[in-house]
Amino acid sequence: MASVMLSGTQNLTLFTNRTPKGLGFTSSNLHSKTHPNLRFIAPITRTTLNCRTIVPKCSISSSRPTSQPRFIQHKKEAFWFYRFLSIVYDHIINPGHWTEDMRDDALEPADLNDRNMLVVDVGGGTGFTTLGIVKHVDAKNVTILDQSPHQLAKAKQKEPLKDCKIVEGDAEDLPFRTDYADRYVSAGSIEYWPDPQRGIKEAYRVLKLGGKACLIGPVHPTFWLSRFFADVWMLFPKEEEYIEWFEKAGFKNVELKRIGPKWYRGVRRHGLIMGCSVTGVKPASGDSPLQLGPKEEDVEKPVKPLVFLTRFALGVLAAAWFVLVPIYMWLKDQVVPKGQPI
Ligand SMILES: C[S@@+](CC[C@H](N)C(=O)[O-])C[C@H]1O[C@@H](n2cnc3c(N)ncnc32)[C@H](O)[C@@H]1O
Repeated sequence: MASVMLSGTQNLTLFTNRTPKGLGFTSSNLHSKTHPNLRFIAPITRTTLNCRTIVPKCSISSSRPTSQPRFIQHKKEAFWFYRFLSIVYDHIINPGHWTEDMRDDALEPADLNDRNMLVVDVGGGTGFTTLGIVKHVDAKNVTILDQSPHQLAKAKQKEPLKDCKIVEGDAEDLPFRTDYADRYVSAGSIEYWPDPQRGIKEAYRVLKLGGKACLIGPVHPTFWLSRFFADVWMLFPKEEEYIEWFEKAGFKNVELKRIGPKWYRGVRRHGLIMGCSVTGVKPASGDSPLQLGPKEEDVEKPVKPLVFLTRFALGVLAAAWFVLVPIYMWLKDQVVPKGQPI
């Protein structure tokens, strides 16, 4: 159970003496509040995290227990959330949480090294990440999939994406054949999936032998207030959860690269909506070896309107906190002299 497993901070503290090479870390706490040198990241593998020894302590079920409310971690709620957010998404979300340089940094481990590669961008939304993909791959080889027609309508308007295929669909049940794509990319979508393990299993299935998945997503806050709002809003996984989901799905060479806005100066205590880029390689053709039970959420099931509206309103209120956090961090970055921790 997540509630009894060690927190990410504790886990990471356990193997702090094993600082990944080449990082220039001066402190041992990888979730440190104050890493002047940790503006970015290093690839983190299970080996560098020394996760092998701690896995039994942080066993994670295929879908996370619902011990926190996570009011928007549902397909129906995410659908309505983006019905409205799509209007301002590119103007509000990207500048605060998901900048172009972060995007390019996060896509770098995806090895988009051939213009003829077949790429699927799952939860592609307004196409912000796809704009990074089509720098390296011909747009005609890229498919943008999302469950929100409103988000996709924005992607359709973008000139560099005009040759991309645009598909409405569900990340947990992809409309692509097994062994289809060379690359699977998904940025900032896992937090809405009711069953993230199922989505990652689908990533495995649709990739060709030797294909690579690159999943970019949030990281769980350690600061209590941010943690409260994060857990009310949606799924902010811990770093070791990503690695475990990838490995359980059957991926090999699983690596995690930390990302974040430059003005955070490496601070991760408030969590990050785009906090890491996790990659894994498919070692054998065919479906994932992982067997899962029925889907978590039945989208056909009728909802009680009042319950739905209350959950939705609380989720939106919690999300508002994460509009304030990047502004606060930006102001701190302006005020605190460069080189000092913030
Ligand atoms: C934060 S946006 C990210 C959009 C884009 N990838 C980007 O980088 O800007 C999350 C997207 O995931 C989509 N989404 C959420 N749950 C989904 C699901 N189960 N299947 C497909 N898309 C989903 C939402 O509709 C939304 O467009």
